[in-house]
Amino acid sequence: MLLECFIFGVITFLMTGVQCEVTEVLAEAGSQAVLPCKCSPSPSMPPAIIWSKADKGTVWRKEKSGLQYRGSSWSQKGIQRAQCPHSQFETGDYSLQINNVNEEDGGMYSCRVEHGDQFTKNEVMLRIIKVSVSPSGHIWGNDVSISCDVTPWPYGATVQWMLNNSPFVHQTGITSNRDTAKSVVRGKATARLTGNWTCVVGYKGIEGRASAMLTVKGIIQPSEDNTKVYAAVGSAVTLPCVFSPGLIPSNQVWDKLKPEFLFEPAPGQLPSSFSSSPLSSQLPWEKSASLKEVAFEDDGKYRCSGTIEGQRLSRSMQLVVAKIDSSIPSKKTGSVTLTCQLTDPSEVIDYEWVHVVYDLNGTQSVGSIQKGKTLSITKVSEDNWGEWACRFYGKEGILGNVTYHIQLMSGQSGQKSSGLSQNTAATVGLSFLLLILLLILAQMYKNHQRRKRLFRYPALETIVHTTSNEREERERNQVKK
Ligand SMILES: *[C@@H]1O[C@H](CO)[C@@H](O)[C@H](O)[C@H]1NC(C)=O
Ligand SMILES: *[C@@H]1O[C@H](CO)[C@@H](O)[C@H](O)[C@H]1NC(C)=O
Repeated sequence: MLLECFIFGVITFLMTGVQCEVTEVLAEAGSQAVLPCKCSPSPSMPPAIIWSKADKGTVWRKEKSGLQYRGSSWSQKGIQRAQCPHSQFETGDYSLQINNVNEEDGGMYSCRVEHGDQFTKNEVMLRIIKVSVSPSGHIWGNDVSISCDVTPWPYGATVQWMLNNSPFVHQTGITSNRDTAKSVVRGKATARLTGNWTCVVGYKGIEGRASAMLTVKGIIQPSEDNTKVYAAVGSAVTLPCVFSPGLIPSNQVWDKLKPEFLFEPAPGQLPSSFSSSPLSSQLPWEKSASLKEVAFEDDGKYRCSGTIEGQRLSRSMQLVVAKIDSSIPSKKTGSVTLTCQLTDPSEVIDYEWVHVVYDLNGTQSVGSIQKGKTLSITKVSEDNWGEWACRFYGKEGILGNVTYHIQLMSGQSGQKSSGLSQNTAATVGLSFLLLILLLILAQMYKNHQRRKRLFRYPALETIVHTTSNEREERERNQVKK
């Protein structure tokens, strides 16, 4: 009898001692939420379970007999959103799964597990996190807001924003505020705000997150105004202007902006080698233009603009032209100084000179490399003949290069100017010869004239002759003395 009492006591203790956990749950809208309800495995018969929501009544219920009931509001097009998988029952896990959760599912749930006369009740708070971007279909430059809603809002929670998996740092022009029930980021739709936005909510030691994509339609390349495009004098260059795929702008034009109107742009003349006619390979939203042969004066600001859905979009870019200036070669040493010149070197942090060597097959290889903006070389040395390239670097790597040719003729400067100076020298030489010829002719004519005059006065000639003969004789005598 005593033993029986003891056993009964132990069983009672075990029955009432069933411990269950209470948990906060944060779930992203549209995902599956798992509401935990774990109890110690029941030692005897299967328990009765009731899952209910504070304002919606029964969600799911199972009687001791095994009969199951579901709340009518939990089916979506005939598919049950809420279920309690049997496979876990043996381990005392009566967790409720809700698929495709929405904001209305947020709230207090309770799980009641009945073992005979004993029962345990757990309360689970489900909070739904939703990130929304409005308005949808964002055109570049429009106002846009990204908000993080948690239903019900957990007071005292921390909210952090991540953009493309890195913490979002607040910048000027972008505001973020926390009103009582959400966190909002507002700004102008630009490349800076484009990407995957994630709202990370921390509450009572747990963390939940939700994401949304912000895509901005407009000119995607270049992505920012005042992008610099580098080109060497004489080379061809492409000025990029690519709209979002599928976006075909109307009234698409290219302008060159006059430098004095930086703030209020006034269109200037486009260079003669400028071409904006599309190539056959271009897609309809590619509006890039090209310059076939860049001149040093072609530098400056260019602007590509077009109208999308009644909104004028434009992107400006700066063409930076590079050239090489050479000093007049010194006559003594034949050395020459080459200087790498850019119309705007503000982004250049480093210059490098390389000697480009071609082998018999015409394959290019790089010879010696020297640092610095200027290069001093002796042309006399055969090793220095050929092509020299100045490479210029920015913070993110190479920006471009410009080449210079040193020709075989020592003392002559490179490029086209050598041919020119040869011609000039020849012309000068010829003119000089002609001049001398003319002078000689003139002198001969003069002599001829004089002789003619003297013939007219033969007596005078004899007098001149005698006087000169007399003088000569006198001089001779003086020498003899
Ligand atoms: C030229 O190319 C051939 C084969 O392509 C190769 O065997 C030869 O070595 C090359 N010559 C030079 C000078 O690089
Ligand atoms: C200069 O730039 C062109 C085009 O980017 C490249 O093909 C060439 O190899 C470069 N030359 C040197 C010497 O770096």
